[in-house]
Amino acid sequence: MKTSHATLLTPDRAIRAAILHCIDAPGNGAVEDQVQYFEDGMLLVERGRVSEVGEAGRLLPRLDSSVPVDDQRGYLLVPGFVDTHVHYPQTDIIAAHGKRLLEWLENYAWPAEAAFAEPEVCAATAEFFISELLRNGTTTACVFGSVHMESVDQLMQVARRLRLRLIAGKVLMDRNCPEAMREPWQAGIESSAELIARWHGQERLAYALTPRFAPTCSPKQLAATGQLLDSRPGLYLQSHMAETLAECRWVAELFPQAPSYLHVYDDAGLVGERSIFAHCIHIDDRDRSGLAAAGAAIAFCPTSNLFLGSGLFDYRAARDAKVRVGLGTDIGAGTRFGIPATAGEAYKVAKLSGQVLDPLEAFYLATLGGARALRLDGEIGNFAAGKEADCVLLDYNATPLLARRTASTDDLAERLFALMMLGDDRSVAATYVLGEKVYVRS
Ligand code: GUN
Ligand code: ZN
Repeated sequence: MKTSHATLLTPDRAIRAAILHCIDAPGNGAVEDQVQYFEDGMLLVERGRVSEVGEAGRLLPRLDSSVPVDDQRGYLLVPGFVDTHVHYPQTDIIAAHGKRLLEWLENYAWPAEAAFAEPEVCAATAEFFISELLRNGTTTACVFGSVHMESVDQLMQVARRLRLRLIAGKVLMDRNCPEAMREPWQAGIESSAELIARWHGQERLAYALTPRFAPTCSPKQLAATGQLLDSRPGLYLQSHMAETLAECRWVAELFPQAPSYLHVYDDAGLVGERSIFAHCIHIDDRDRSGLAAAGAAIAFCPTSNLFLGSGLFDYRAARDAKVRVGLGTDIGAGTRFGIPATAGEAYKVAKLSGQVLDPLEAFYLATLGGARALRLDGEIGNFAAGKEADCVLLDYNATPLLARRTASTDDLAERLFALMMLGDDRSVAATYVLGEKVYVRS
């Protein structure tokens, strides 16, 4: 930190608010030990990164008078939310009524994604999608494009302009899908390699190889994807696994030699530290151990799982098996862009399985847990010094009902829980990327 005087701090800016962030995963002890909370806190930002966080009463006397202080007392400042699984070309089919996964794909997802052959559709949807992320406080996302290269180009361009941290990739499908979106596996691999060369490691962007799921990818395509995954450090792999029983039966027919769904991906070299599999509802303890041993992550997508009627994700079993878990909206099978609301639905899914998800643990999943699932916890996820200053200002008084409910308690976990259950994009007062406000609620 620059110092104009031995004892004075001169960050670029400071934000004063109630501040909450996770310092570690909720362990076996009190969850409260894993979070830091400052009722009257201050976050100091220098060159887009956190330089210090603490009580305003301790930091203010050390702050040079020239430092601009963004006074947001009355609001709660938290790290930007992490969405570990979302499809941007499905933005326009949210709330498509009636079907379960495989019929939903045929009836809604594929026709919607076919439209991304048009660059203008990609560009307009990318703009809307990213502005929707920001109005919901999401500052990092792991995103599926469509099969079209242009879908990724347009999304990455918007993210780069806004300096957003984003992982994305074009979908790979070489069978069991409409002809317009099917491509020979070699073509999909070549396009992916081209996109990797163009985008992977550019500023805050990274590439994810994106075989849609085993039914739409031949063994050759999966194996070639595994080889490409090893071609550059830091590449990600995103796919779906064991979302519905019908899908699992189909995979067993298509890959009769594989002892389990996970083996299909593992045999192709797709299960590693930067692999994120959405759903994983219908898996057993052996596959959970396999995921944990490989260091792979599960994207828990409760609104999608409830909406499509796919099943109840066993969060406790994943946690006990020490699998990394993050929250995913899975738009457009998911129904909320907001990660806090998604955490609220995760609570309900856990409830239906006889489990109780603690509000502070849900908050962990929304922030540091998501960052760990994406292997980005060295950069984001909390306010440790040196991390990128992506943050969200939450408003307990966003709606009359939320205000009334939160006024009835001083308990932090209760207030946080009310935000998850009752809040939506109206409870996001502002979103900051690298310490700069990029969204302010009107
Ligand atoms: N499985 C394969 N593709 C998809 C998709 O687009 N959405 C969901 N929810 N599951 C899938
Ligand atoms: Zn999905």
